[in-house]
Amino acid sequence: MTTTTGEHRQSTAAAFAQAVDAARRAPSIHNTQPWHWRIHPDRLDLYADTSRALPGTDPDGRMLLVSCGAALHHAQVALRAAGHEVAVRPLPDPADADHLATVTVVGDTPVTAGAVRLVQAMQLRHTDRRPTVDVPVTAEQVDELRRIAGAVGVHLHKLTPDQVTDLVVAVSHAEDAAAAEPAALAESHLWAGPGHPAGTGLPPEVIPDRRPETDVGERDFGVRGTLMTGGGHDKASTYVVLFGADDDRAAWLRAGQALSAVWLDATMQGLAVLPFSQVIEIDGTRAMMRRLLSHLGYAYLVLRLGVADPEHALPGHTPRLPFEATATIDETGR
Ligand SMILES: Cc1cc2nc3c(=O)[nH]c(=O)nc-3n(C[C@H](O)[C@H](O)[C@H](O)COP(=O)(O)O)c2cc1C
Repeated sequence: MTTTTGEHRQSTAAAFAQAVDAARRAPSIHNTQPWHWRIHPDRLDLYADTSRALPGTDPDGRMLLVSCGAALHHAQVALRAAGHEVAVRPLPDPADADHLATVTVVGDTPVTAGAVRLVQAMQLRHTDRRPTVDVPVTAEQVDELRRIAGAVGVHLHKLTPDQVTDLVVAVSHAEDAAAAEPAALAESHLWAGPGHPAGTGLPPEVIPDRRPETDVGERDFGVRGTLMTGGGHDKASTYVVLFGADDDRAAWLRAGQALSAVWLDATMQGLAVLPFSQVIEIDGTRAMMRRLLSHLGYAYLVLRLGVADPEHALPGHTPRLPFEATATIDETGR
């Protein structure tokens, strides 16, 4: 049980700070890290930091919310591994759309080996844009990821070969649409090239040195990187869609929590993950994805899963903003 003694409140705030620090490693669209935390003695508040939004690429803020949801889930995982059971209130303030969640500690929970492994996976997880190797992802592996997304309230659908063919078309349309949108192009060049804030963005080491020969085209950042792609393709890759019944900010935040949960588990299973968000960012191709799901729900994000290439070194880690840039500590208890 929780107490309200000064000692407990202090240790809760310290646990919040540690969780916020761990959540810095969460994935985000273009590595914008569009979140800001306020650490109070008795609660942790998550806000959208719209100074790092992408209005040209992500006008509705879908991917911003998904990114913040991933950071939220990372913080939840870190708190659980520190023995804290937490409650999350999404979108707690109708008058402040940027206030995305409030996290409180509601009790103690035994620290399990599984919880500790998830925190370790947060350090290892990364986006892998190298083509995948010829080893297929097993049905059991996909089932596990489906169960993990389901526990967060998000569905995961594995695309059939015919649906992957439809995805090829949708991705190609999305790429054309983005290329015709100067604001999106400028954002891509900014976050994958020079000029973005230090500690954010995509360094050349994580961007392929040439266009990979995959059927489903990878996002073109308009910048050539140094990541050696080899001659592989995506024939053995599995494409999945995270989707759900609602298409609003609460649903996008939840999709981000599911993304984090799925990605951490995939990391522990030795799977490489690459998100494809362009088809969701663009209205026309988002509608195509909804048709592809036979109108069963709204698509939040497409993921490519594959067995990580064991022969070559993993891509390097992307940078992160320092703790102080993404968190404010309120010691007054307000
Ligand atoms: C919501 C979301 C959408 C993303 N969309 C894409 C994408 O379309 N193409 C891509 O190559 N990477 C995409 N990424 C991966 C990010 O670029 C990556 O998470 C970020 O650069 C941080 O790198 P890391 O995942 O290796 O830590 C996406 C990530 C998130 C969270």
